Amino acid sequence: MSLPRDARFRRGFFLFRSLAIIPAALAIVSCGFQRRADPGATERKLVIGFSLDSLIVERWLRDRDVFVSAANSLGADVIFQNAANGEREQVNQVKYLIDRGVDALVIIPQNADLFTEVVQRAKSKGIKVISYDRLIRNAGVDLYISVDSREVGKIMAREIVKEAPAGSYLFINGPKSDYNVTLVKEGQDSVFKDYPGVYRALEYYADNWSYDLAFAEVSRVLDAGTAVDAIVCGNDGLAGGAIHALSERRLAGKIPVVGQDADISACQFVVEGSQLATVYKPISTLAREAAQIAVAMAKDEYAPPAETIYDGVHDVPVRWLTPVAVDKSNIDSVVIDSGFHSAVEVYQNVPVEKRPASYR
Ligand code: BGC
Repeated sequence: MSLPRDARFRRGFFLFRSLAIIPAALAIVSCGFQRRADPGATERKLVIGFSLDSLIVERWLRDRDVFVSAANSLGADVIFQNAANGEREQVNQVKYLIDRGVDALVIIPQNADLFTEVVQRAKSKGIKVISYDRLIRNAGVDLYISVDSREVGKIMAREIVKEAPAGSYLFINGPKSDYNVTLVKEGQDSVFKDYPGVYRALEYYADNWSYDLAFAEVSRVLDAGTAVDAIVCGNDGLAGGAIHALSERRLAGKIPVVGQDADISACQFVVEGSQLATVYKPISTLAREAAQIAVAMAKDEYAPPAETIYDGVHDVPVRWLTPVAVDKSNIDSVVIDSGFHSAVEVYQNVPVEKRPASYR
């Protein structure tokens, strides 16, 4: 039996939210404590501290799981901390990790600008710091590793101008405190500058990447009678909120929407036709590489890349991975063949006779 549309929008979200809480707590209990329990051991285990702001957005579960399993397979433990969208809480959790004496730190900052002091504290104790996916600003971290967000922005813009080369655009961005939002925008602007007919009817920045805020804002704009020809969303969660607002007004599939992450709900919307495109990010590679680098850094065996990014004060070594555009034409090869999501999940809402022959 298929769920009502509203329930479908929410289903993935709540499932992920509830699953997220349990392993988050367990990870802290199960990892890392051996180090103190066995002080006399000749070769003690390395311990990596991993801090993120929230597990609500689907991708971060994969980031965390792949990172922890890669670190474990290299013989390191991971102490995982989830700040549940608390900016200050995240800073305090990183201080706690430093005080626990971790060998390296991996941080996905909620607010790019809050970590200057805490990174100094880590450095003063000889703890190397990796800024993961999002750049920590003004702090001189040892490495920034990410999927190239400027490239993500270019992909979003290139995909949507195919459908709407001119017209009234809504931009539903993530929060400005996430520096990826700035980079994505730079990438988008480098494409839109060649499309003078693109009119920015709305530039909105959703706190905490909130689905609900995206839904409310797009609903408000549509109800005000504003013309809308395209909606560019900062990620698939925001795109889900926008599509929800459109579908309540029977507009889903009529106005192109783009996001990023290749979340399962977005992939389903792409094959159903209500989302034009998303962006696949090689998250498993990112997490695996970050774990390998963290372990190498902890052993003082890591040579940073020559390429750098300016963090506001320092030039920080950077390792970029490449994102890939995903639309109906290539979703099978990019998302399904790579094992990112299964065909059963992606096509579950498409009637069997309308699926590609190989997935019937
Ligand atoms: C990441 C996105 C993610 C968003 C919300 C951004 O910094 O690059 O992949 O969807 O944060 O968590």
